[in-house]
Amino acid sequence: MKLFSAHIEDLRSLYISNLKKALDMEQKIAKSLPELIESASDPELANAFRLHLDETQGHVSTVESILRNHIGEAATETCKVINGLSTEASDTIKDATDPTIRDIALIGAAQQVEHHEIAVYGTLRRWAEILGHDEDAALLESIEAEEENADAVLTEIAGRVNLEGADTPAVRSRSVA
Ligand SMILES: [Fe+2]
Ligand SMILES: [Fe+2]
Repeated sequence: MKLFSAHIEDLRSLYISNLKKALDMEQKIAKSLPELIESASDPELANAFRLHLDETQGHVSTVESILRNHIGEAATETCKVINGLSTEASDTIKDATDPTIRDIALIGAAQQVEHHEIAVYGTLRRWAEILGHDEDAALLESIEAEEENADAVLTEIAGRVNLEGADTPAVRSRSVA
C-alpha cells in the first residue's frame, strides 16, 4: 500500500512540502492580522498584533528564502489548518458584540494560531536537523522563538483582559440569573 502521494516519497520531499504549507500559512496570517488589529479595542492587544505582523512579514521572507535555496522558487501548498482557524476567528469576531468579549475571543483565536505555528516550526526544525540543513534549522528555530514569544505576550494580556471580561454586563447578568 502506498502511504504517501507521488510527491512525498522521502523526508526531504516531506520537508519541502511542509515548508510550502508554512509559507501559505504565514502569507494568510500576514493578510489577516490587519483585521485583528482593527477589531481589537485594547490598545496593548492591538499593539501586540501590530508587532507580530512585522514579525510575520519576516517569517514570510525567511521561509521564502529557505524554499528558494532548495527548489529555486517560493512555491506554496495550501495549509488547510490555517483556513479552518481563520474561518473560526472571523466567525467569532463577527459574533462578539461586546468589545471586551471580542478582545478575549481575538486572544483565544490568535493563541490557537500561535500554537499551530509553534508545532509547525518545531517539526520543521527537527526535520532540518535530521537532513543536515543546519542553517535552515537555526532560521526555523528563531521563527519558533518569535511564535513562542507572541503566545506568551498574549497570555499576559489575557490575564488582564479576561478579568475585565468577567465584569462585563453580559457576564454579570448571567451570573445573577
Ligand atoms: Fe509566523
Ligand atoms: Fe505567529
